[in-house]
Amino acid sequence: MCHHSRRDMMKPRNPSANGHGAAVSWYERRPLVALAPMEAVTDSPYRRIVRAIAPEAVLYTEFTPARGLLAGAERVWRMVHFEESERPVIVQLYDNLPETLGEAVSEIGKRYRPDGYDLNMGCPVRKVASRGAGCGMLATPDVAADAVRHMIERADGVPVSIKTRLGIHDKTQVVEVAHACVEAGAVQVSIHARLKADRPKVPADWDALARAAAQIPVTVIGNGDVWTVRDARRMVELPGVDGVMIARAGIGNPWLLRRCCQALAGRELDPLPTREEKARVAMEHLRANVAEKGERRGVLEMRKVVRNYIKGHIDSKRTWMRIIDVESEVDTLAALEQFAAGPEQRKHEPRTVPS
Ligand SMILES: Cc1cc2nc3c(=O)[nH]c(=O)nc-3n(C[C@H](O)[C@H](O)[C@H](O)COP(=O)(O)O)c2cc1C
Repeated sequence: MCHHSRRDMMKPRNPSANGHGAAVSWYERRPLVALAPMEAVTDSPYRRIVRAIAPEAVLYTEFTPARGLLAGAERVWRMVHFEESERPVIVQLYDNLPETLGEAVSEIGKRYRPDGYDLNMGCPVRKVASRGAGCGMLATPDVAADAVRHMIERADGVPVSIKTRLGIHDKTQVVEVAHACVEAGAVQVSIHARLKADRPKVPADWDALARAAAQIPVTVIGNGDVWTVRDARRMVELPGVDGVMIARAGIGNPWLLRRCCQALAGRELDPLPTREEKARVAMEHLRANVAEKGERRGVLEMRKVVRNYIKGHIDSKRTWMRIIDVESEVDTLAALEQFAAGPEQRKHEPRTVPS
């Protein structure tokens, strides 16, 4: 407890941070609810959907390779493109070279002014981590800190944060890396409560998360296994944890973000969406995705996402089977229309319960 209160002194809560004050930076907001960066998921079409339903949520781009940006790859530049309506939006970058990261920030700054730049230090994929980027940076706190320094130097006042895991083999490793990055100027740390090698099925270790968070003197966002409003409430009760970041549970479920914002602000929760509403938003998402990426890619990419939108109803599976059988926008929309008109009855109680 003594330890806990000392850390609270280091990190004073901002009583005026109510999420509406213009002067309040995104990481000073309370409650602080974020949709996690997810490759091939949190693109501009989906961020716009989430923004419309959860106006207070903090949104991230997909993780973007700094050197791909510098090479001018159009596909990579699309990843950092965002609309004004999406703010606050944080651009997440990865690379192993601090200079490259700094240059990428500088190039992005010529075209956009995001609300933050986030350094990915959590990606475990071999191609990324083996060359010292993503999770690989956890092994080299000095390089991580240098990267933060280079990014800040080129960020023109835009705040820089990091997103990392508990460690590579040791769940206390994050503390040293976070301290080095905070010393270098990082204003916020997101911690995915797993080790590098942990499969997504391994339960996130919230005890280890709380132990680490209590030692980090800036805003800490907890991440890992927030599936329900109740999970979000429990996560922010952990000592040292200031906000929640939701990844898998937020795919095709923007309402979870909305309800978490409401719950953590002490407001009344909206009812769960009806199947009609889910179908309507899934259709809107599909159209936006097709407009952005063309019909074939737009439709195929949306399949697994649509599956999440329509989950939990007696005809979910039937609808899903129909959707994976078609490849055109109009046929997919027709399947969703049919789903919208089905009976409201649910197959089982939804996982997102108001409590
Ligand atoms: C499809 C998918 C893509 C992801 N892409 C990224 C990414 O681009 N950057 C990142 O930092 N983490 C990425 N992650 C990790 C998530 O941000 C998050 O840390 C992890 O899924 C744990 O949160 P959860 O238990 O709420 O899913 C991804 C996860 C998923 C499932």
